[in-house]
Amino acid sequence: SLVAPQGSAPPPVDATPRLPDVIIIGVRKGGTRALIEMLSLHSEVVAAQNEVHFFDWDSHFQRGVDWYVSQMPRARPGQLTVEKTPAYFTSSRVPERILRTLPDARLLLIVREPTERLLSDYTQLFHNRLEKRKRQESLESLLMRDGELNLDYKALNRSLYHVHLQRWLAAFPRTRLHLVDGDALIREPLPEMRKVEEFLRLQPQINAENFYFNQTKGFYCLRERRRERCLHRSKGRKHPRVEPQILRKLYEYFHEPNLKFFQLAGRTFDWK
Ligand code: A3P
Repeated sequence: SLVAPQGSAPPPVDATPRLPDVIIIGVRKGGTRALIEMLSLHSEVVAAQNEVHFFDWDSHFQRGVDWYVSQMPRARPGQLTVEKTPAYFTSSRVPERILRTLPDARLLLIVREPTERLLSDYTQLFHNRLEKRKRQESLESLLMRDGELNLDYKALNRSLYHVHLQRWLAAFPRTRLHLVDGDALIREPLPEMRKVEEFLRLQPQINAENFYFNQTKGFYCLRERRRERCLHRSKGRKHPRVEPQILRKLYEYFHEPNLKFFQLAGRTFDWK
């Protein structure tokens, strides 16, 4: 019989890699690393270390689900497995692919005020180019064209959340997607994480002791069984100073798209 005799310990079950239950789909620079690290504080959550890029890179997708599973961490039955690939959110083929591969997946999307996200995106590319010793392009040269915003600038497009969310909601019911407020997560992580636990129907476990504010970093860091750690130094970089009239153009530009996003999302965010 497979039933353990009463009073004896349950048979040990091996933890094995398996497909994710939860996917953090983006948005790039929204705070996706902070979110997956904070979620991993929960004993019933196991997260993939690296961004898997299974659904957005054809070369990975063609390797099939066995390869996908091989990229996932070992998990005990009952634990939730999670991966994050922020590029999924803006990649047009991904929602359909996830729906077909993981029809029961639950999705987490962390967003941030769109102008701030754009500046964070630019800053990341700036540092990538610095490392590769590539020629730098100023934010202004990328963002402006003949005195107007250059709508072809990719980082601008990635902040048009309603455009991308629309595609996800054509594939998944709204109830399967939880939105995390990335600005709130920076200011005060615990309330946002409580909402994530609730959405994932996890026992509330993440608590105030798991976070402490690090003055030097200027961000909350994580505490797990007395071990303390901050996110990598690439998280929480200084953003470039932007001319006030360009900032104003950005805030004006995102105003309508933001309202459309709130409408789709069924909630608002405290954005400029
Ligand atoms: P900046 O570096 O522009 O400040 P992602 O992990 O998706 O790339 O997002 C990076 C952003 O996460 C950072 O952008 C930072 O603002 C934000 N973040 C949220 N919580 C953080 C934390 N506790 N420590 C560091 N960065 C955090």
